[in-house]
Amino acid sequence: MSIQTSHPKQHRLEMIRVKPSELFESETLQATVKRGLTHQPKYLLCRFIYDAIGSELFEQICDQPEYYLTRTEDAILRDHADDMVDGWAQAPIMIELGSGSSTKTRRLIEAALDRYESLHYVPIDISETILEESARNLIRDYSSLKVTGIASDYDTALRVVADRMKGPKLLVFLGSSLGNFDDGDAVRLLQRIQGTLSTDDRFLFGTDLVKDAKVLEAAYDDSAGVTARFGKNILTRINRELGGNFDLNQFRYEARFSPEHHRVEMRLISEQEQIVTIPGVDLTVSFSAGESIHIENSHKYTPTILDQFAKQSGFVEERSWTDPDQFFRVQRWHV
Ligand SMILES: C[S@@+](CC[C@H](N)C(=O)[O-])C[C@H]1O[C@@H](n2cnc3c(N)ncnc32)[C@H](O)[C@@H]1O
Repeated sequence: MSIQTSHPKQHRLEMIRVKPSELFESETLQATVKRGLTHQPKYLLCRFIYDAIGSELFEQICDQPEYYLTRTEDAILRDHADDMVDGWAQAPIMIELGSGSSTKTRRLIEAALDRYESLHYVPIDISETILEESARNLIRDYSSLKVTGIASDYDTALRVVADRMKGPKLLVFLGSSLGNFDDGDAVRLLQRIQGTLSTDDRFLFGTDLVKDAKVLEAAYDDSAGVTARFGKNILTRINRELGGNFDLNQFRYEARFSPEHHRVEMRLISEQEQIVTIPGVDLTVSFSAGESIHIENSHKYTPTILDQFAKQSGFVEERSWTDPDQFFRVQRWHV
């Protein structure tokens, strides 16, 4: 696999970038736009919301009063981080999928440093700007931490991890990011994660639980309109990177809980009949008034669904932690 490695100044920091040509061709923004906007109903993939602006907006979402996820998961990590990182004679390599700002992960990093004195942390994120910025901040704040950032998608990064990272691992996946995948894809991702791990390794991940629809819909459509701006960032990217002419004011954002699919579904809805051109993929797209683009799903789980996922992907649950309202759950699995 052809990868670029750099050591930006500090010797404790390494950045690995997997070139776009290494990503699956069918999963580029171009391919997704072509496929998704000619499909009925129209859709796009939420990973493309995350560029430097999308990541910054996500950080703002985490601070919204309606977005209970971040503070609830953070409280669980604060109370149980010691147990979550326990179990090895020497520090395992801590690898994190979709690390973002790594803010909550600091609870785990600090607990691991207390227990093992030093740590190798490997954050993985498709959004390179936030990955490098958070890696630099971590190196500055923890003198016995070594960081290897991998700027790539989950699948490619898991291949890099399997090739390069030897020794016991604690693989971390926070923020209920698994919930962005439909159940079948979630199980396939869990199977790939399982295939990367051995019996000495552990998988620690946070999941949002099914709850009242009003609470869920408010979390994904906050009154300050930050989530709406976040969702519309995918149109901004298409305009900037593919020369599209989406008028963001002509699309309304909506988040609805579907009990049948145990997920919050996020859409951008065309306010009127309109035609959008996207020269970068040689595409003209017509929208009728009220027609939607499905941009994101956030699945919500029950312990029973998670149990089935574990069975289907070859994992066994070792321990789990939740909050007093049972809004969120963090679990540690082994293969
Ligand atoms: C919901 S945010 C969670 C961030 C952080 N883990 C947290 O809990 O606050 C999802 C993160 O995963 C990254 N991401 C989304 N899809 C990805 C993919 N397919 N491969 C790698 N990173 C991805 C995004 O850039 C973003 O930083």
